[in-house]
Amino acid sequence: PWTPERASEIIAQHQNQKGATLPILHALQEVFGCVPLDAEPIIAEALNISRAEVHGCVTFYHDFKREPGGRRTLKLCLAESCQASGGRALEKRAKEKLGVEMGGTTADRRVTLEPVYCLGLCHSSPAAMLDHDVYGALDEERLDELLKEAQS
Ligand code: FES
Repeated sequence: PWTPERASEIIAQHQNQKGATLPILHALQEVFGCVPLDAEPIIAEALNISRAEVHGCVTFYHDFKREPGGRRTLKLCLAESCQASGGRALEKRAKEKLGVEMGGTTADRRVTLEPVYCLGLCHSSPAAMLDHDVYGALDEERLDELLKEAQS
């Protein structure tokens, strides 16, 4: 669990390297599953930079989460090719079935739904990724299977 002490320890392990902000943010996310807002002043103080700079960095890179995500992450491709081949309807369906918006985590914390912009599977759009596995040529039925697997 998150504690400022534990965060300080992690920050101390990286703070002397060049361009330490990103490695620190990645390390915090790896350990805590997110970069809590409360970590920002601690990082700023350790690196002797402003809190605004840290905040800018966290929000600029979409990799960083504010809260730990669900047990599984379902990423739906929202880039052009997938959008043009039914991705938009699948996005709507996934949101409805999970009861979350993009970036949201289901109440039981099983699934986080996230957008992704091209998975290199444009030839078999629409595409999605469940944790580390990619799936192409999705239709409603295949999406439902993925949703079911994600929630199981
Ligand atoms: Fe979706 Fe390329 S646009 S995989």
